[in-house]
Amino acid sequence: MKAINSMKLQFEGRSVNESFSRTAVAAFVAQLDPTIEEISDIKTAVSEAVTNCIVHAYRHKLGVVYITANILPDSHVVIKIRDKGCGIPDIPKAMEPMYTSAPEEERAGLGFAVMQSLMDKVKVTSKEGKGTTVVLERSIRCKEA
Ligand SMILES: Nc1ncnc2c1ncn2[C@@H]1O[C@H](COP(=O)(O)OP(=O)(O)O)[C@@H](O)[C@H]1O
Ligand SMILES: [Mg+2]
Repeated sequence: MKAINSMKLQFEGRSVNESFSRTAVAAFVAQLDPTIEEISDIKTAVSEAVTNCIVHAYRHKLGVVYITANILPDSHVVIKIRDKGCGIPDIPKAMEPMYTSAPEEERAGLGFAVMQSLMDKVKVTSKEGKGTTVVLERSIRCKEA
């Protein structure tokens, strides 16, 4: 479906940029006049996906994180978060609640579970050694006039 509006963002995968990225996406989505809860849900989901790029995809190295956000008709928001990192060998396993490949870093393994609970749709594609794309979709409920 053709986007009504879109934006692209790319930044270095440093922890300090995580809050920048979620705030930037929230500022873009703000044009749909979302509720505070909707904005908060989107920020949390983006934050989880971006954190995964920084801590898992580019483990022990620095890489670039790419975000695109599209607004489709009926206030439907599609956000893609992409990295060119290590990739995910087994996506269903990675998405299981409580699974983490980094227990020594005290990761809870709940990032994907949180994204799925807050978004209408979460899609993950990945290629080992090439990178991962997470697509988050959420409809913004139109406030009554
Ligand atoms: N962008 C990514 N690149 C590589 N591996 C990832 C990526 N995102 C998630 N993973 C893998 O999926 C697992 C589960 O992710 P998540 O549910 O966010 O839990 P956590 O980050 O606490 O480990 C991670 O431990 C990691 O192995
Ligand atoms: Mg995580």
